[in-house]
Amino acid sequence: MSLISRILAPGIFGAEIEDAGQPVLLVPEEEVLVANAAPKRRRDFALGRFCAHQALTALGRGEAPIGKRGNGAPHWPEGVVGSITHTSGYAAALAADASRFSGAGLDAERVGAVSPDIWPRVFGSGERDYLERLDDEDRERAATLFFCAKEACYKAWGTAPHFREIAVTRTEGGFVAAGADRVLTGRFAVDGDLLLAAAWY
Ligand SMILES: CC(C)(COP(=O)(O)OP(=O)(O)OC[C@H]1O[C@@H](n2cnc3c(N)ncnc32)[C@H](O)[C@@H]1OP(=O)(O)O)[C@@H](O)C(=O)NCCC(=O)NCCS
Repeated sequence: MSLISRILAPGIFGAEIEDAGQPVLLVPEEEVLVANAAPKRRRDFALGRFCAHQALTALGRGEAPIGKRGNGAPHWPEGVVGSITHTSGYAAALAADASRFSGAGLDAERVGAVSPDIWPRVFGSGERDYLERLDDEDRERAATLFFCAKEACYKAWGTAPHFREIAVTRTEGGFVAAGADRVLTGRFAVDGDLLLAAAWY
């Protein structure tokens, strides 16, 4: 499986890992951030940081520790934008040069995680109309994509308008997401029930 390599744009570097219980070490500056966390949280954090370091290395920015900002976002080295995601059994990250991208976000979800009862909270009427026209299987996948795309936008922005105010539209190769005064380009890939989406601007 390589979902991440299918969705990166030139200049954006990424990495992913399937959790097979392999040892994954944190550097001390990162270890302290999850010193009191539950085992699952520590594992997710470590897998995400592992991918983030691989993405940074591919970008040519070495092995600097990746801290944590007050809002929970990763604290990337100066001049880098990027994003981390984890879901059950999987983690991924991307990194890019801030001189080329203002922001980049990444989100992974299991298809089916976005049930219709939360649609009114997260989707606009145009998105809901689109979803209603699809058959059951396509609807489940498209709803997961729309949600993933909005999470990726949120991470790329660091903050964002309410999810309903981010309008996601499918394009030939992926999606565009528009909200506030920004338009983000995005791509996604699916493998089984795992969907990974990235958005950048
Ligand atoms: C914070 C949030 C983006 C995390 O997304 P998620 O799908 O729950 O979890 P993921 O595993 O994909 O992502 C977690 C990673 O996101 C990153 N992250 C956390 N807060 C972030 C922020 N404000 N900006 C950018 N990245 C952030 C972190 O790297 C985190 O992993 P780490 O703590 O191990 O470093 C999400 O919970 C959130 O708040 N979304 C926006 C608001 C919302 O809830 N909308 C839905 C209803 S309107």
